[in-house]
Amino acid sequence: MSSGIEAIKWETGHLDLLDQRLLPTQELYISCSTSSEVADAITQMVVRGAPAIGVSAAYGMVLACHSAFLQHEGSWKANIVDAINELANSRPTAVNLFWALDRMKRLINRLPDVQNPTASLLDEATNIHNEDIESNKLMGKLGAELMAELSDTPFSVITHCNTGSLATGGFGTALGVIRHGWAQETIKHVYADETRPWLQGSRLTAWELERDGISVTLNADSAAAHIMKQGDVKWVVVGADRITANGDVANKIGTYSLAVLARYHGIKFMVVAPSSTVDMSLVSGDLIPIEERTGTELTSIQGIQLSPKNVGAINPVFDVTPADLIDAIVTEQGIVLKPTLEKMKALLG
Ligand code: MRU
Repeated sequence: MSSGIEAIKWETGHLDLLDQRLLPTQELYISCSTSSEVADAITQMVVRGAPAIGVSAAYGMVLACHSAFLQHEGSWKANIVDAINELANSRPTAVNLFWALDRMKRLINRLPDVQNPTASLLDEATNIHNEDIESNKLMGKLGAELMAELSDTPFSVITHCNTGSLATGGFGTALGVIRHGWAQETIKHVYADETRPWLQGSRLTAWELERDGISVTLNADSAAAHIMKQGDVKWVVVGADRITANGDVANKIGTYSLAVLARYHGIKFMVVAPSSTVDMSLVSGDLIPIEERTGTELTSIQGIQLSPKNVGAINPVFDVTPADLIDAIVTEQGIVLKPTLEKMKALLG
């Protein structure tokens, strides 16, 4: 059911990341042997997607602590603060980054300063990685079952951004649901938004689905309303970068527009994300830091100027979909239908 894509590979002493900036035309790995290189790879979008960022940061912590131990045996813990800050500052919106760093820090607090921490930390990072894959498979099953319950004939779905093996530890969140739904023959076709400006949909999602033999067509983001009006799309299915306690969802810019369109057309809206994407410390999506990236992502593509040279461009790369536009949030711990604070607390505490 999976494409077998390995975007994040730990090899002794270094982390190899499939360079997602080069896909779909080149499949090249970048090798990171320091935590600074991992932080830079996250900032530069060599690796992207909320769970994949968290997994990479966990391995980045292994590299940071290993190097601190070699240089400061007996006091390595005091010498990892800058590395932790650098990883934490690599991107602001996906909470999985901070969740993974906190989990690694909790282990570090329990380790003695006099002992080489590398093996214990590598175990923890590997656990984070493997648990994410397991969560994806479970969410894929749960989400596909929910879709199947509500429709007795095969249908199409729209997805946005890339939520597959590239964006996670492996397999995928929304793409995990699509992989299951395709295998069960409930999903017959996937409309992939190209996802301007970085083109995660056309460069990454189309690449993943084509490799898996899943029926996919690309569309301009602005074609979504027209496609929905045709009638064969029954679900919008997307991932998330951060979900707040009331069920608001930050995800790739354009997700909010899709949710509004889906409601108008009577199409259901599903968000698929592991519990590591849920931030119960924030009461509403208004509090989520929204990353703004350089306007050149809009005004040029691969160095080719698309707009007048000096025109201003705003480039917020995430938006927040309010909970009342969401029909289901699927996590590995279960499904929250029509999310509210009470329902989120009941499932995710
Ligand atoms: O800017 P990106 O490519 O890191 O944004 C990724 C997304 O918005 C994904 O939809 C989200 O992280 C869910 S991935 C499983």
